[in-house]
Amino acid sequence: TRRPVLVTGGAGFIGSHTCKLLAAAGYLPVVYDNLGRGNRKAVAWGPLVVGDIRDSEALQRAIGTYKPLAIVHFAALAYVGESVSEPAEYYATNVGGTIAVLDAARTNGIDKVIFSSSCATYGVPEALPVSETSPQKPISPYGRSKLMGEEIIRDYAAAYGMKYAILRYFNACGADPEGELGEWHTPETHLIPRVLMAASGMIAAIEIFGDDYETADGTCVRDYIHVSDLARAHLKALMHLEAGGDSLSVNLGTGKGISIKEILDAVGRITSRPVPVAYKPRRPGDPAGLFADPSLARERLGFMAENSDIDTIVRTAAPFFGLAPASMPKAFGATSTVSRVKR
Ligand code: UFG
Repeated sequence: TRRPVLVTGGAGFIGSHTCKLLAAAGYLPVVYDNLGRGNRKAVAWGPLVVGDIRDSEALQRAIGTYKPLAIVHFAALAYVGESVSEPAEYYATNVGGTIAVLDAARTNGIDKVIFSSSCATYGVPEALPVSETSPQKPISPYGRSKLMGEEIIRDYAAAYGMKYAILRYFNACGADPEGELGEWHTPETHLIPRVLMAASGMIAAIEIFGDDYETADGTCVRDYIHVSDLARAHLKALMHLEAGGDSLSVNLGTGKGISIKEILDAVGRITSRPVPVAYKPRRPGDPAGLFADPSLARERLGFMAENSDIDTIVRTAAPFFGLAPASMPKAFGATSTVSRVKR
């Protein structure tokens, strides 16, 4: 019998990829998701409980039914720009919801929590690469809500004897190499899917927000990490806590910065399509460069990104936008239909 783990936000992009891997590793991922931003079709490796993390009673019922050994808490709102115009929603869901999840955990004797945090908690970094000892000074309500979540978890852990793994993602991207899952946010604001949408003609052009930054080619530099690598980091964090390992807060990145122009080049080369570009002013709040020092995750979890080179990212993401990479390995398939395994 597979061992149950409650996965809040398991119908979302990173959550669904993690559920697939948890199932392959012998766990039963029980998805708890209000489907506000997640997709029902992305839940295929365990039961789906439709519920909101702010609904304590529904959470308690799900925990009572499935008796999970740990909670992997992905559920959150995650658009930086939206958090500026709708801070109430962000604090209610990301802070209030996290408190409800932690209370449900402690009142049910669940003492292992894995939390989705973000490089957004660092704000505009003073130095690169960003290590875990860099000051956390978020510049958006989203970033602040994630930092508050971290602090609350650390206080709960100290007082109530919980163990946690706080994972600070850099730029999540890519898609399941087997083609069963992909990145499809509504609205889609992230760079790589939007570049693929431009290449496939779904949008007229990719808008580039600034080409006059103090970087090698003038465009912003980010640390793009493949969602399959992120999923594997969650599995490692869960196994670490199950083995009695100590709580930790670690960056999940590659350590390598990639510019927007390098991504445009990769998409053009791999899809053999022209990528129409429209240059626009800078987007408020964007740091010029942001990439991780990934060494602590390696020391503590034995985790390193392995599938996050830009070609692998683009090759796995392209089929979801109707684009078959020019020389796609057979195993990846060219289909964008989502096939399912039995629950
Ligand atoms: N960009 C464009 N055009 C677009 C979309 C993005 O030029 O259409 C640029 C952005 O200005 C930025 C880079 O591409 O320089 C990456 O932008 P994304 O929106 O894909 O990602 P961000 O780096 O802004 O956001 C990521 C995570 C957030 C997190 C943030 C912290 O998605 O959750 O990093 O900085 F909060």
